[in-house]
Amino acid sequence: CMVRHYKFNVVLKNTTRLCSTKPIVTVNGRYPGPTLVAREDDTILVKVVNHVKYNLSIHWHGIRQIRTGWADGPAYITQCPIQPGQNYVYNFTLTGQRGTLWYHAHILWLRATVHGAIVILPKRDVPYPFPKPHKEEIVVLGEWWKSDVEAVINEALKSGLAPNVSDAHTINGHPGPVPGCPSKGYMLPVTPGKMYMLRIINAALNEELFFKIAGHQLTVVEVDATYVKPFKIDTIVIAPGQTTNVLVTTHRGGGKYMVAASTFMDAPIAVDNVTATATLHYSGSLTSAATTLTSTPPKNATSVATNFISSLRSLNSEQYPANVPLKIDHSLLFTVGLGVNPCPTCVNGSRVVASINNVTFVMPKISLLQAHFFNISGVFTSDFPGNPPAPFNYTSTQVTNFATKQGTRLYRLAYNDTVQLVLQDTGMITPENHPLHLHGFNFFEVGRGLGNFNPKEDPKKFNLVDPVERNTIGVPSGGWTAIRFRADNPGVWFMHCHLEVHTTWGLKMAFVVDNGKGPNESLLPPPSDFPKC
Ligand code: C2O
Repeated sequence: CMVRHYKFNVVLKNTTRLCSTKPIVTVNGRYPGPTLVAREDDTILVKVVNHVKYNLSIHWHGIRQIRTGWADGPAYITQCPIQPGQNYVYNFTLTGQRGTLWYHAHILWLRATVHGAIVILPKRDVPYPFPKPHKEEIVVLGEWWKSDVEAVINEALKSGLAPNVSDAHTINGHPGPVPGCPSKGYMLPVTPGKMYMLRIINAALNEELFFKIAGHQLTVVEVDATYVKPFKIDTIVIAPGQTTNVLVTTHRGGGKYMVAASTFMDAPIAVDNVTATATLHYSGSLTSAATTLTSTPPKNATSVATNFISSLRSLNSEQYPANVPLKIDHSLLFTVGLGVNPCPTCVNGSRVVASINNVTFVMPKISLLQAHFFNISGVFTSDFPGNPPAPFNYTSTQVTNFATKQGTRLYRLAYNDTVQLVLQDTGMITPENHPLHLHGFNFFEVGRGLGNFNPKEDPKKFNLVDPVERNTIGVPSGGWTAIRFRADNPGVWFMHCHLEVHTTWGLKMAFVVDNGKGPNESLLPPPSDFPKC
């Protein structure tokens, strides 16, 4: 295994999109940021130097960080931020992981422009469990605001209302032509008759996306850096935080084909309706044939999304088994959704909030991981409720349950405990999709359904053989999903909605996993350059 060194200078960079220019926060002046490339079991050291006026931290989304929670990155959860002018070396090992993951800033809304791909190749001489592609390409999907992104969320927090939606989606940093601003958009050159692998990442802040390519089928082979049983499909759906690898075989002929990323949102809320487009450009085509147009699914095309999601299965081969926990130590039910709390200074005298089991998470002043490791009391409590307060009909509007309680409450697990967690959407304001991301672990999605979870009937239908393994799962609008994981990683692990606006509103909590008794079962001490609050 190798040790790989990277340096991330976080700097402002004037950038023009949608025919207007603004300074954005970037890694090394690039948007999206540079790609980290490594192999399974390598160690990565990234020196992050903060040259901007904001506090900073970077998260390596999907990297398990076994015993190295200090390098996980969410500000005030596992570290104090890197202050302006300061630096910190994230030092971690890619234990038993290969595939596509990504990194992003994990403080304020900086991840809008501070993000990039992580490519983890299999160990030397270990092939992919599918034919070797001719070439691999990174496809990062994002969102672009013409105005300053921090100003967008600050205004929303002041007013208590929802923030402005983005002005366009992007593919590898470019929206493509939009009304009023012609631009070429991202161009992907291909050769006829070859197989390509696209490593697709949804780095958008607030929107789940459909992705498709005109005239080409996609063969899905991996999600969230875990192999799946390959299947063919026209359109994939990808939530913020998720990654999907697809194989695309080019035709014998030539031409240009449109690539499109458009919103999936089956709730009646405001979204960015601008479809980002890019071009698959065949080399050697003699005519400059026009781009073949494709229709994108309407934003509320739930059936297109469900068709993709219900096709996902773990590869579950001898080499890559699906180790689904069968005996469960903690059976939890968490409601996820929005609410309304009083706010005398806000526009309507109230503000939109979000919660898990009616707890709106309050960020601490020092990191939870430090408080845990050094036994600092008064920072958090370990009494996060394993079930929602009173039984109620989750998916119907419950006026009496609008208000949430605030707290910095964690759920405590012993080392190696197994957890079944049902995530149940609520309809307190409106049912909505919530892509829930768990740090420090992969989990298996053993079941999903619409309406209220039925604890007697639904578990009978769980897939305990080859359920998909992920780190970010979309809780369906007005429905539930059930996940299982084993707490084999000591530390403090954030779980939150990966729609940034919902995280900001409090749809977040953390698990604290105690050390085990074995020699390799305890959290390592913090590095010497660990940032101070
Ligand atoms: Cu990709 Cu806590 O986030």
